[in-house]
Amino acid sequence: MSGIDPVSASASVSGGAPDLSLIICTLNEGVAIRSVVEEVSAALGSIRHEIIVVDDNSSDNTAAEVLSLAQSHPHVRLHVRVNERGLSSAAIKGWDIAHGKYLGVMDGDGQHDPVAIRALADMIMAGDKDLVCVSRYIGQTDTGLSGLRDIGSKVATAATGMVLKVPLSDPMSGCFMMTRDYYMSARPKLTGIGFKILLDVAASSPIKPRFGEVKAALRQRQGGESKLDIRVVLDLGALLIEKATGGVLNARFVLFAGVGVTGVFVYAAVLFLCHHLFNTGESVPMYRFQKRLDDVLSFSLAIWVSMTWNFFVNNAITFRDKRLKGIAMFYGLLGFYFACSIGAILSLFMAVYMKDHLRIHYMVAGIVAALLSSVWNYFASKWLAWRT
Ligand code: GDD
Ligand code: MN
Repeated sequence: MSGIDPVSASASVSGGAPDLSLIICTLNEGVAIRSVVEEVSAALGSIRHEIIVVDDNSSDNTAAEVLSLAQSHPHVRLHVRVNERGLSSAAIKGWDIAHGKYLGVMDGDGQHDPVAIRALADMIMAGDKDLVCVSRYIGQTDTGLSGLRDIGSKVATAATGMVLKVPLSDPMSGCFMMTRDYYMSARPKLTGIGFKILLDVAASSPIKPRFGEVKAALRQRQGGESKLDIRVVLDLGALLIEKATGGVLNARFVLFAGVGVTGVFVYAAVLFLCHHLFNTGESVPMYRFQKRLDDVLSFSLAIWVSMTWNFFVNNAITFRDKRLKGIAMFYGLLGFYFACSIGAILSLFMAVYMKDHLRIHYMVAGIVAALLSSVWNYFASKWLAWRT
């Protein structure tokens, strides 16, 4: 062997790693994606860059558009995820397969201004910053949003200020760049949950970054629809709790526990209904036997309805990035019933043990046992139903 492989040697001379890897996450952005990629490529000009589109199996022509673009633009790459969803985890996937020294992310719907993105690239590549972000709010207190969204945005910004080591003026921004080192410092603790990837990165890194900001407003979406909804807000809350507790309360577990609380209300509502429906009164012969049957039926129905409720709500919220559909959902439901039944038995034994052997007050024993079994339910159903 002569030592140098001619193929890789020539590749590293002519091509080599790009300086900047820009990730664009897409879900049904077929209308906008071509012009977004072309515009930002033009704005980046001579900067050696690659653009990685991470598409979550869009049902429109997004992937086809990107593939056809890649034919004429060799710096454009497409990565399709089939069983996963979510803007944050898509961005992480993109960075994990990127080659650049600097890593960035932007939206695929044309809302981020290419001029601002060029300014970001120049700023991060100057070498004296770890993290640079496009901000809508530098030096301003007015968010430009109306009513409830304005209040929501301010509350979110204040709450995020508590978990961040860096005074970002727009922690919800979806357009920023960072050094690979800074990304790697955050990587082990990233949750990948939800939409707020800047927050996830900045709250996960132990480093206080040298940071810069570029002011730019969001432009109009070029066709397609926004994917922002109430679940994005729930995800944000869970992410903040995880970061504020130093990871002790995992974001997904927080969502799972929140869903569990709604399940308790469903359980109570079903019991209440049954109690009124089945209350047949003393007129029935064999009244006591009948009553016993009614109780068993009521409790069973309440357990079954609330477990089913919990499964579907968890599938839509807690595990929506791994959402089960069709036959997989049916098996998932069975797995969930199984996990929770074991959880109920465990809870029963723990409660009795605590009350009788540890002499703990029955109410405290019951609540502690329920909490412990919910931890079991979480891990068991995560594995048995959603297979993660
Ligand atoms: N791969 C993937 N998977 N991409 C997704 C998903 C997903 O599940 N959900 C949304 N996206 C992509 C969209 O296709 C779009 O390119 C980008 O993420 C942003 O989604 P929008 O639905 O356009 O979000 P928005 O306009 O409401 O939110 C914008 O403003 C926020 C600040 O308030 C985005 O810039 C956010 O990143 C930003 O946090
Ligand atoms: Mn958008």
